[in-house]
Amino acid sequence: MENKEVLLSAEQIDQRIQEMAKQISRDYQGKRPLLVGILKGAFVFLSDLIRYLDIPVEIDFIAVSSYGADTSSSGVVRILKDLEHSIQGKEVLIVEDIVDTGLTLNYLIDNLSSRQPKSLKVITLLDKPDRRKVEMKVDYCGFKIPDRFVIGYGLDYGEDYRQLTDLCILEP
Ligand code: PRP
Repeated sequence: MENKEVLLSAEQIDQRIQEMAKQISRDYQGKRPLLVGILKGAFVFLSDLIRYLDIPVEIDFIAVSSYGADTSSSGVVRILKDLEHSIQGKEVLIVEDIVDTGLTLNYLIDNLSSRQPKSLKVITLLDKPDRRKVEMKVDYCGFKIPDRFVIGYGLDYGEDYRQLTDLCILEP
């Protein structure tokens, strides 16, 4: 039987997303950025975030997975579902739920940069800096969290728990 402990309540998350949205709306005033959600984890965060933005946005999704061994150790990433449209000349914002080792994001930044966007920045709700293997710049970060296994608010354990409204620590 697993135990869950709330790390960030739905209210805390909502409050922080409103602040992030305000900042992003200010920074992208007069622009129409393309938000690229990284499936699957980021879909909950992305859908809440866009409803607090007061600038026009476009949305697209990309789904990635590791080859064989897990992404966190190999860093070799495979695109399961690519973007629908070209991002050339666009103001692109990658939207992640969590940056852990940074290997997924490192790959995505490389990959998307090569498609010649006008700009490319990163938004993440959660950051686990203790686990980082590659250094990178996260432009907008919701919360820095300790190195614990977290579920809920889009994040899963064996595909379960994504629908929890709080972000919880899963205790074995
Ligand atoms: C998670 C998360 C990031 C990645 C971060 O996705 O959404 O994409 O891992 O890890 P990293 O910084 O160590 O590369 P996951 O592989 O769990 O897939 P999911 O979003 O479909 O659950």
